[in-house]
Amino acid sequence: MAETVRIAVIPGDGIGQEVIPEAIHLLRAIAERRGLALELWPLDLGADRYLRDGTTLPTKTFEELRDTCQAILVGALGDPRVPSNEHARDILFGFRFGLDLYANIRPVRCLADRLSPLKAHGADAIDLVVFRENTEGLYVGVGGQVRRGTPDEIAINEDINTRKGVERILRAAFDHAVAHGKKRVHMADKSNAMRHAHELWLRAFREVAREYPTVEPVHVYVDALCLYMVQDPRSIEVVVTCNLFGDIITDLGAALQGGLGMAASMNVHPGRRPALFEPVHGSAPNIAGQDLANPFASALTVGMLLGWLGHQDLEGIVERCVRDCVLAGECTRDVGGALGTRAAAEALRGRVLRALG
Ligand code: NAD
Ligand code: IPM
Ligand code: MN
Repeated sequence: MAETVRIAVIPGDGIGQEVIPEAIHLLRAIAERRGLALELWPLDLGADRYLRDGTTLPTKTFEELRDTCQAILVGALGDPRVPSNEHARDILFGFRFGLDLYANIRPVRCLADRLSPLKAHGADAIDLVVFRENTEGLYVGVGGQVRRGTPDEIAINEDINTRKGVERILRAAFDHAVAHGKKRVHMADKSNAMRHAHELWLRAFREVAREYPTVEPVHVYVDALCLYMVQDPRSIEVVVTCNLFGDIITDLGAALQGGLGMAASMNVHPGRRPALFEPVHGSAPNIAGQDLANPFASALTVGMLLGWLGHQDLEGIVERCVRDCVLAGECTRDVGGALGTRAAAEALRGRVLRALG
């Protein structure tokens, strides 16, 4: 009998509570049709819970999840009622760091010409993937504040870059390039300004690249990469970069896909379970609760989850059906349709079920 796949589900905050139920609906429909055994474990974590009883990510929940789940599906974390963002950091970084999910993989694929914001380039020119380092850099929280609130205050965030951490994300990017027949890997840094940390990135990049003779290594400063992503996206296939730059360039990447409503991602430690899957977007408080959120980023994220579980055919079907929905105008307003979140998700589900036969 096929193994039951246990997936923890955290809709989280804002539009996470609208798009994740739709993503689950889609996942259940696919699983039922294909006879996949799934056990979904909904977790009440996020701003509501934090405001109710102060809970962010309990150790017991983390450990059970680590020991029993194959995957975690997260909507978004962040709520204007929690200005410190404490719960979001505890939960998101609790998983990313706690499970050592060092590769944050964010595909930037534009599915329809209409979604490309570039006047010179259609959908076929925009197909790259970003490998964002996910456990180090400026995100580790090493630092502090001194003389807070006085005119002499000092705030420090240390940028942590280890040889091991840099090397493993570089290898993940090159391995991906080899496995998918990609010709080059761009490594984006600021070694011209950050001469300690990013000199390490550049040196490690040149050394690791020698192990992959079929892939051309291209070093680029991250500011110039932003230019190339817009001017000549076709020249970019795989990008590897540090945590903060990866965060920033994947919102730029999302814009090339038609917006954050179309951008999916996964956080993995290759070879290990569980992995964490989440749309790139946040909780979008400006549209939350109005049936306006695009559910396709979460649907594509479910597709990535299925692909990661070994069902690449299903991942392909989800992506093609999202594209067909967009082409047919069966989508939300941010991507040119007139449907609400639920109706767009229903249209997609119908297409996926028809494609499954
Ligand atoms: P955001 O991604 O929530 O929204 C940015 C813009 O994109 C907004 O105009 C929003 O309406 C739009 N948008 C985002 N997702 C959309 C969707 N599915 N459909 C249609 N439009 C969509 O970024 P923000 O406003 O900077 O952040 C809001 C909160 O979310 C903050 O608390 C932030 O820290 C948090 N956040 C969380 C995550 C995460 O959990 N992974 C990611 C990003 C931001
Ligand atoms: C993302 C988000 C997070 C990040 C925030 C919410 C801490 O922007 O996943 O892209 O910066 O990693
Ligand atoms: Mn981000």
